[in-house]
Amino acid sequence: MDQLDKQKAFEEETKRISDTVSKIKHRIIIFSGKGGVGKTTVSINLACIFHMKGFSTGILDADITGPNVPKMLGVDDRPIVLSDKILPFEKFGVKMISMAGLLNKGQPLIWRGPLRSKVINQFLADVEWGELDYLIADLPPGTGDEILSIAQQMKPNYAVIVTTPQEVSVIDAERAVAMAKELQIPSIGIVENMSGLICPHCGKEIDLFGKGGGKKLARESSTIFLGSIPIDIDARILSDKGKPIVLEKPDCEVTNAFKSIAGLIDAYYQENTIKIK
Ligand SMILES: Nc1ncnc2c1ncn2[C@@H]1O[C@H](COP(=O)(O)OP(=O)(O)OP(=O)(O)O)[C@@H](O)[C@H]1O
Ligand SMILES: [Mg+2]
Repeated sequence: MDQLDKQKAFEEETKRISDTVSKIKHRIIIFSGKGGVGKTTVSINLACIFHMKGFSTGILDADITGPNVPKMLGVDDRPIVLSDKILPFEKFGVKMISMAGLLNKGQPLIWRGPLRSKVINQFLADVEWGELDYLIADLPPGTGDEILSIAQQMKPNYAVIVTTPQEVSVIDAERAVAMAKELQIPSIGIVENMSGLICPHCGKEIDLFGKGGGKKLARESSTIFLGSIPIDIDARILSDKGKPIVLEKPDCEVTNAFKSIAGLIDAYYQENTIKIK
């Protein structure tokens, strides 16, 4: 491909991405700074709630080298690749695309940033998302290239930053907040996950990782505190089985916390539909 062809291909891709983005009303990124704090769990459960509320919803698994969305949604297939489009998976009414379906099981993926960014561009340019009310991008831990690509291409209008209550996680989340601000994402909300553990034996609450770190961060960074989600052993067991807890246990504390968080995000969009583009 000579320079001119490359430039043309780039321009065409940019156009396809902006076509996709123009058909998606509410674009949310979920990230954290620290790994293992519950980003994918939050992405999946919020997506299921938005679908239950009647919104057309998709999840873009932007964790290219460690994609977990399909496992947690119980999807084991490969996406259908047509000549010029990729059809997203559909599970529990939610559309989804992930690198996991494009790799062989257990195959390691060691790619530098530019290649990972290329996949993200393709997920936006070539996946047949159609009209969506919500697209949630589940990001890998850290504040690396994927976030920059997503911010540039998907033009998110809401950043949900997930933290656990401990200081080490909150410090990383602080960096994530700073990055979201620098990227000029119009709204930033904090979710405190793994906030207290309800003992399955005695029903008493144990502050395994402490409590209140997320709320404090929101206060100090002038962001929105969206809510806390307790540790529920069933949340972990169900996610290993590919079953989102909000669908399996529709009235537990974790599900109610997710409903409240989704309600706050939705209310934000209702109030700001004219202002945000
Ligand atoms: N509130 C919770 N209660 C119990 N288990 C939870 C809760 N939130 C998440 N988990 C479990 O913790 C583990 C890590 O969660 P998850 O994969 O969502 O984190 P992550 O931030 O996406 O991780 P990574 O940084 O690797 O992408 C999973 O096994 C998940 O089931
Ligand atoms: Mg994850």
